[in-house]
Amino acid sequence: MTTPAEIKFKDVDLEAIASAAGKVVVFVGEDGKLDAGARKVNTLTRKALARFVESAAFEKMAAGDAAPLGYPVGMAAVAVVVVKLGRKPSCADARKAGAQLAKIQNGDDLLILAGTIARAEEISLGLALRGYTFETHKTAPAKTAGTVTFMVSKPEAVAKAAAPLAAVAEGVFFTRDLTNEPANVLTTDDFAARLAAMQELGLEVEILEEDVLAKLGMRTLLSVGQGSDSPTKVVVMSWNGGGKEAPFALVGKGVVFDTGGISLKQPGGMEEMTMDMGGAGVVAGVMRTLALRKAKANVVGLVGLVENMPSGNATRPGDVVKSMKGDTIEIINTDAEGRLVLADVLWYTQERFKPVGMINLATLTGAIMVALGHENAGMFSNSDGLSTSIAKAAAAEGEGVWRMPLGAGYDAELKSRIADMKNVGGRMGGAVIAAQFLQRFVKPDVPWAHLDIAGTASVKKETALAPAGATGWGVMALNRLIADNYEKG
Ligand code: BES
Ligand code: MN
Ligand code: ZN
Repeated sequence: MTTPAEIKFKDVDLEAIASAAGKVVVFVGEDGKLDAGARKVNTLTRKALARFVESAAFEKMAAGDAAPLGYPVGMAAVAVVVVKLGRKPSCADARKAGAQLAKIQNGDDLLILAGTIARAEEISLGLALRGYTFETHKTAPAKTAGTVTFMVSKPEAVAKAAAPLAAVAEGVFFTRDLTNEPANVLTTDDFAARLAAMQELGLEVEILEEDVLAKLGMRTLLSVGQGSDSPTKVVVMSWNGGGKEAPFALVGKGVVFDTGGISLKQPGGMEEMTMDMGGAGVVAGVMRTLALRKAKANVVGLVGLVENMPSGNATRPGDVVKSMKGDTIEIINTDAEGRLVLADVLWYTQERFKPVGMINLATLTGAIMVALGHENAGMFSNSDGLSTSIAKAAAAEGEGVWRMPLGAGYDAELKSRIADMKNVGGRMGGAVIAAQFLQRFVKPDVPWAHLDIAGTASVKKETALAPAGATGWGVMALNRLIADNYEKG
């Protein structure tokens, strides 16, 4: 598992700056005023820092930008890194500054002279998140990670504020690792084993195998996996930190690889379908974060783990299967498999847990990427209250989400001649029709939202807080949603 950098918070010791190896970081606001740490660096470097701060280059920097000054005279460090950041930065600017430092660190030790700056813990989160690399399958030894030390005026207070954010970073890393992992490694067995290992953190983890799923009547879920040699599983993770109340539920699509099945996908880009378990990955990452920070909430996380393969035993287009709910589905296209996975897991979740609310996450449709690109996940909901809370939490965490419509006209597309419904409608509005399909398996009195993360789970270009590849989109938003709305005291 990839683990975030360990970050230490120490008392300010101005005398230790001259001999510090690696890179020494100072913060200077728009006003160009130097704090005690920066003044010390300025003196040691015979006013090189002040010259930089008065330059046009500093003037042009935006909040959160960082500039390294190499081989400073009078110091042992290989660079002084100047970060443009005021004394009271916004959360987004603080994280951005941390992310810039992660990119500049390049294996060296960092000594960060944060002094009395507000939101030092958010700087540390940005640093941890942008420091992620997925190197499990590189044989060349990775550069040793440098150490990270913040010098702050109140180290205990900052360390206390940073602890729950370190739990967030670890959850996000867990999601990214799962989502980046190739499908020959992250099989359904391997995925379930990684989730079971979280019992060490105090999570309850239960694995439902195929015989149990068959007895429960989860035929639509099982129909997706029947062409694969890997067994289909449902994993139930429970975090009981909140007393006796009914839990909030998270449900994830965990298709470890999506070939499309008999409705086989085009070969170009098919390798990307290793991320088709991204929804399950986010559920796992949130559960990990809740356990690590000992959240005072009851949350269940359920994932349907399955591989969509063509074979002599695979589901055919035209097959009719019965869902756990009892409705029959004509499977027109075996590549519209995510909704079949979720239909049964959503129903099971409601029957077993009677949740106070339910969110499912899925890399469900290419159509949502056509609509929203990689900037926003699509949100579909039967509840204005829940969708507003999700949008607020996502905005606070800088994770894009955009509400999309639902309606009877879209639902009508799912009419089947021979069964209760079919699994696809027309091509137009494909992401909405997929959401309508899911809603048929949601009880009307359960506040529910479906997040289509096909465009945000994994991206080709780096983002503010992640390198190219899996982003972990949603872990921060959902962790905050739970903290702000479902947690006691
Ligand atoms: N896993 C795909 C959706 C997807 C596409 C995710 C690209 C990430 C990137 C999903 O199972 C799928 O194949 N959806 C089809 C549905 C269609 C057959 C109605 C699609 O979007 O083309
Ligand atoms: Mn598919
Ligand atoms: Zn899929």
